[in-house]
Amino acid sequence: MLGTPEGVKVVDHPLVQHKLTVMRDVETSTRGFRQLLREIAGLLTYEATRDLELTDVHIRTPVAEMNAKKLAGKKLVFASILRAGNGLLEGMLDLVPSARVAHIGLYRDPETLQPVEYYFKAPDDLSERVVIVVDPMLATANSAVAAITKMKERGAKDIRFVCLLAAPEGIKHFREMHPDVQVVTAAIDDHLNDHGYIVPGLGDAGDRMYGTK
Ligand code: URA
Repeated sequence: MLGTPEGVKVVDHPLVQHKLTVMRDVETSTRGFRQLLREIAGLLTYEATRDLELTDVHIRTPVAEMNAKKLAGKKLVFASILRAGNGLLEGMLDLVPSARVAHIGLYRDPETLQPVEYYFKAPDDLSERVVIVVDPMLATANSAVAAITKMKERGAKDIRFVCLLAAPEGIKHFREMHPDVQVVTAAIDDHLNDHGYIVPGLGDAGDRMYGTK
């Protein structure tokens, strides 16, 4: 893929790239993987929230009064695509502890290969909130596309998508379906293999973070 596609932000910060390399390494333990995912999530969220609106508030420091900035509007919503999204969610909540949380459970129908929703819970008033949907791996993008469609049906208007790794095929599909949603990722890898794994990737993110097979 030549250059970064429109609507995609690759966070090429040295700390992000270092942590990602350790996560990719097959020798990295479950505990190490989970910890690094949590750490990297904060750095990705930092980029995904760069343009949040601020408002002036009047406060008193121990020394003087001043006008200072605070986040404007309603609390953010972090929407985790189960189960791997939860690994990123933890680190995002470290950074923005007051955020509201949505969970979206999707499985892949073995015949149609399309995502089927089995769980959905989200705050009511999505139309007035910035919603950040998270899943570590943007592979085919089928789950991400379905999750964002659902959030839009529930009224969300300002949506961003945060992942750790993306495949060019997934980005293309995602951008075709939701061109209004910015993607923030640590890297865009080479391709998807026949089993739907990102190459070189890091394997199955859920298995690596929970020690399952
Ligand atoms: N999901 C994963 O966990 N890993 C991949 O490489 C693709 C999808």
